[in-house]
Amino acid sequence: MSAEKKVQSEDDLRLKLDINNVFTEMIGQEHGMTIEELEEAKDKALKAHDNILKEEAEGKMGFMELPHEQKEVVKKLKATAEELKDKFDNFVVLGIGGSALGNIAVQTAVNDPHYNLFEEARNGYPRLFVSDNVDPEGIKALLDKLDPEKTLFNVISKSGSTAETMSQFLLARKFVADAVGEENVGEHFIATTSKDSGYLIEIAEREDMKKFFIPDNVGGRFSVLTPVGLLSAAMTGVDIEKLLEGAAYMDKICRKADFWENPALVNGLIQYLAYKKGKVMSVMMPYSDRLRDVADWYRQLWAESLGKEVDRQGNTVNVGPTPIKALGATDQHSQAQLYMEGPFDKIITFLEVENFAEELEIPGAYQDLDGLGYLGGHSFAELINTEKWATELALNKRERMNQTLKVPEVNEFTLGQLFYFFEFQTAVTGELLDINTFNQPGVELGKNYTYGIFGRDGYQDKKEEYDQSAKPKDDLIL
Ligand code: PA5
Repeated sequence: MSAEKKVQSEDDLRLKLDINNVFTEMIGQEHGMTIEELEEAKDKALKAHDNILKEEAEGKMGFMELPHEQKEVVKKLKATAEELKDKFDNFVVLGIGGSALGNIAVQTAVNDPHYNLFEEARNGYPRLFVSDNVDPEGIKALLDKLDPEKTLFNVISKSGSTAETMSQFLLARKFVADAVGEENVGEHFIATTSKDSGYLIEIAEREDMKKFFIPDNVGGRFSVLTPVGLLSAAMTGVDIEKLLEGAAYMDKICRKADFWENPALVNGLIQYLAYKKGKVMSVMMPYSDRLRDVADWYRQLWAESLGKEVDRQGNTVNVGPTPIKALGATDQHSQAQLYMEGPFDKIITFLEVENFAEELEIPGAYQDLDGLGYLGGHSFAELINTEKWATELALNKRERMNQTLKVPEVNEFTLGQLFYFFEFQTAVTGELLDINTFNQPGVELGKNYTYGIFGRDGYQDKKEEYDQSAKPKDDLIL
């Protein structure tokens, strides 16, 4: 055998879903599922699959087009990154929800954990900040430290009107204009938005900003593989073509109409059946710092897509599994007690990294101290995965439903697969729940009350509802 590292094929990097611990053999009759149950429900999943492909053919599943249809966009993104990376020290994303979480997930997964802190971690690319809240202290603390002349803002808003994003834009615009003059403002902003609706596109045109577009048929939380997530990735040196190749690879698998050949379809059904069995909480627990924010991204994808009041016939159903994010091994010392002994209301999905880029040996020492000496000579990679296997075994012993998505290594290709896998799985579970996976009326309602209270034209009815709503009683504020 040659000592050289074998070149990995795409198949070597394929994600694998281990569903053993969902079944009665591993976790007992009372809380497990049987293969027969899954087999019986298989036709329902295949019908959901068929519907998804039909809707895709009608142009309604925009996220499925992204891995294949962005050659020109990728060219433009790369050229923009190349042109701007040396001109600016800081790249600041202003966005929220689906317009922010994917950016953070990519950055954490692919780039150096201390990317912003050290120049050598950045390889000549600008620092990345994602400002996704309107807490005045957070915003001020960031702007105070940035040199406006060396800062480029990417304002991301599909609707072009979200208050959290547009208020930050107004402040950032003033911050830049005060330093470089009104006439140069446009050079410090990129607008990532809908091509032909909303205020952001109008402003971008008026002020001659660079523009990137979010396709109409791709919703915010499904948009990480559009310029929403790809521009900040390109601006920080991430290989965006590999991200899309990973997604395209997973897309091929997700299109398979053979149930057992399609893990995202299987998992969409498992999640649905688990929910019906009372496992109404869906935990995602990566044992990897790099995948920490994938769990955060997924939390929004799952919650906004599946938490719905009405089904597609308009019946009130109030459905939706609650997603929970956790981090292994850290949260073994925070959440695991609840998962082991609390209510039987959870299905836990572990993300396990098979090969860490660093093994990192634990030095041997204190051999005379039994409770310490055993650590030496093992690696941290071994330790983190052993902790995961131990937690899994303990959960099995306590009859807790769990499964593992194995990630051969964390890189752009596997990250692209992860994004696509979970997007497709979400579409499947949404079909099975018979809801509209792609709308978010609850979020819109909150946005509209804010507009009304702040006096935006067209939202007077929301202001009136607010004025007429029951007011808190002082004696109940303790
Ligand atoms: O997934 C979604 O649709 C939402 O989370 C949106 O991304 C979020 O509300 C931000 O909306 P916009 O991009 O229009 O500013």
